[in-house]
Amino acid sequence: MGVDLFAGLSGAPLPALGRAPKILVFDSGLGGLTVLSEILAALPNANYVYAADDAAFPYGALDEQRLVTRVLAVMERLVARERPDLVVIACNTAATGALPSLRARFALPFVGTVPAIKPAVRASSSGLVSILATPGTVRREHTRAMIEAFAGDTQVTLVGSPTLAGFAEAELRGEPVNDEAIRAEIAPCFVEQDGRRTDAVALACTHFPLLTMRFELVAPWPVAWIDPAPAIARRVLALVGEANRFGVASPARAVFTAPRATPAVLAAALARRGLASTEQDDFPLT
Ligand code: DGL
Repeated sequence: MGVDLFAGLSGAPLPALGRAPKILVFDSGLGGLTVLSEILAALPNANYVYAADDAAFPYGALDEQRLVTRVLAVMERLVARERPDLVVIACNTAATGALPSLRARFALPFVGTVPAIKPAVRASSSGLVSILATPGTVRREHTRAMIEAFAGDTQVTLVGSPTLAGFAEAELRGEPVNDEAIRAEIAPCFVEQDGRRTDAVALACTHFPLLTMRFELVAPWPVAWIDPAPAIARRVLALVGEANRFGVASPARAVFTAPRATPAVLAAALARRGLASTEQDDFPLT
């Protein structure tokens, strides 16, 4: 598989639409909010729908075939319902598994999220970096191919956490887990070898930047935490193009696939990120 597949550096900007573009930002849960915030700041004049496939959360636990089937099925519904001009797969687990299938199925521009291996390598002076991701992303052939292509002499430690995305969800729902639980999950990222120490950790799951302040507090030593969201926002801006930046936009909306109530703490967290209303499009995982 070509390693440039997810780089997202090709593709022409959208044609002039004569209105604000509609952008669908997609994740398995609340992690994509870290990406939405960056895109909203870079491009306020767009119509945003944030879609969380929380009925199938966590994606990190699904095998690749099940994941691809699920993401295609949810996207089918979302595209029919929302008619977006551009889709952001704000989920490393979904993008590293399903992006080629999505691009083959839909005639729409897709911007993906892949582990920020290149930026982590650039940020490191010690030559020891870690990639913190879901177990699904760690298993992907594509992740390994990117390391092979971009790590050079830098030693990359891949760390798959089955629980951190859930911890991030709990944090936003006002039920934060304790420091010890977080410390145990990030501990394998910190490597000491021949007098050198890991000095950069790529946050290769969009949920994890929701916990950066918690990570900083429990980390055994300071490192650069690499969040790919600003780079994704720049890519979206380039694809939307100059001609489509100035339309009148409606307030952003959130759509969830699980039929559960939004607690007040979460509603407030969504509102702080520009999402004033939430809807349910019930779609159980079968
Ligand atoms: N936010 C997703 C990612 O970037 C993963 C969370 C999950 O396991 O569903 O990988």
